[in-house]
Amino acid sequence: MAEQTTIHANSLEWMKGQPSSIFDLVIADPPYNVGKDYGTTVDSIKKDEYLKFMLEWTSEAARLLKPDGTIYVFMGFRFISYLYDILENECGMSFNSWICWHYTQGQGRRRGLSARHDDILMFTKHPKNFTFNLDDIRVPQKYYRSVNNMRGANPGDVWEFSHIHYCQGNRQAHPTQKPEGLIERMVLASSSTGGNVLDPFSGSGTTLRVCQQLSRNCTGVEIHPGYVEISGTRLSQLFKGFDSIDPRMKRVPLNLCDPQIRQEYVENHKRWFLKNHESDIAEFEKEVYRLYDHVKTQKTIKPDKTKSGGNDLFAIFSQ
Ligand SMILES: C[S@@+](CC[C@H](N)C(=O)[O-])C[C@H]1O[C@@H](n2cnc3c(N)ncnc32)[C@H](O)[C@@H]1O
Repeated sequence: MAEQTTIHANSLEWMKGQPSSIFDLVIADPPYNVGKDYGTTVDSIKKDEYLKFMLEWTSEAARLLKPDGTIYVFMGFRFISYLYDILENECGMSFNSWICWHYTQGQGRRRGLSARHDDILMFTKHPKNFTFNLDDIRVPQKYYRSVNNMRGANPGDVWEFSHIHYCQGNRQAHPTQKPEGLIERMVLASSSTGGNVLDPFSGSGTTLRVCQQLSRNCTGVEIHPGYVEISGTRLSQLFKGFDSIDPRMKRVPLNLCDPQIRQEYVENHKRWFLKNHESDIAEFEKEVYRLYDHVKTQKTIKPDKTKSGGNDLFAIFSQ
């Protein structure tokens, strides 16, 4: 059985004491040095000090990764370019993806554009030999077509996930809790069942919780004792599905007019895209009903072959 442990420590010191090549995946969400209140640490230090801290912890994280391992690092706009340079040139890792985590809500600005994304850099230790389970992170297609891979499309590098709001049941007493759905995608893509994951700045325990549900071993390191406690409590709670989802996971493909194909697809969709998101299934089924309930009643209408094929929702509606 996979194990999840939260260690109360300064992650830099802790990492220095560990042997090399022990983790398959590192998911790091460090302080961005933008003045957040994390209780015990100061998230506003001089630029040089912050760059030194960044270089030290990323070098250790790279050392702890197995030769086929992967690292994802969250970062704000102020230090993202430095982070890229450090990972590529100082740690000698290979760039894979620059992910834009897009959110729809946040603070507004009057003299400049309101920030609606954070960046996440994905680097691998080896340029070619690394785990990437694309099938486990595919997103539903927009249209049913027999030539489409209905198992889903590549999610791309712009990922939309809402922040976890204070009124949501899973909101923890932590200022920068990340959405579970976002971490789920990284864990599924870049590790296997039973694999070893490290989160060196584990905060409220989001990565640990996701790994627990996806059967990965996970070590979280957190300097604030209160957050270590929150993380432990979170791991002991009953699981009711991840707290966030990419909205595309609930989209119902258009053109699914054949009732038999549709029924089969709907069952597959739930298994492929809504596993661990039970609370979103009802909304998905409602959308299937909204789009297709009346299609059943129009069986006598001949599909318009001059349009996009015999199984085209728009063709039926336009007659
Ligand atoms: C951006 S938050 C991580 C939030 C986390 N991803 C979550 O979803 O809750 C960064 C965390 O790093 C912790 N931290 C800061 N410096 C640290 C250090 N040197 N070692 C371990 N943890 C540290 C902070 O207390 C804070 O909880």
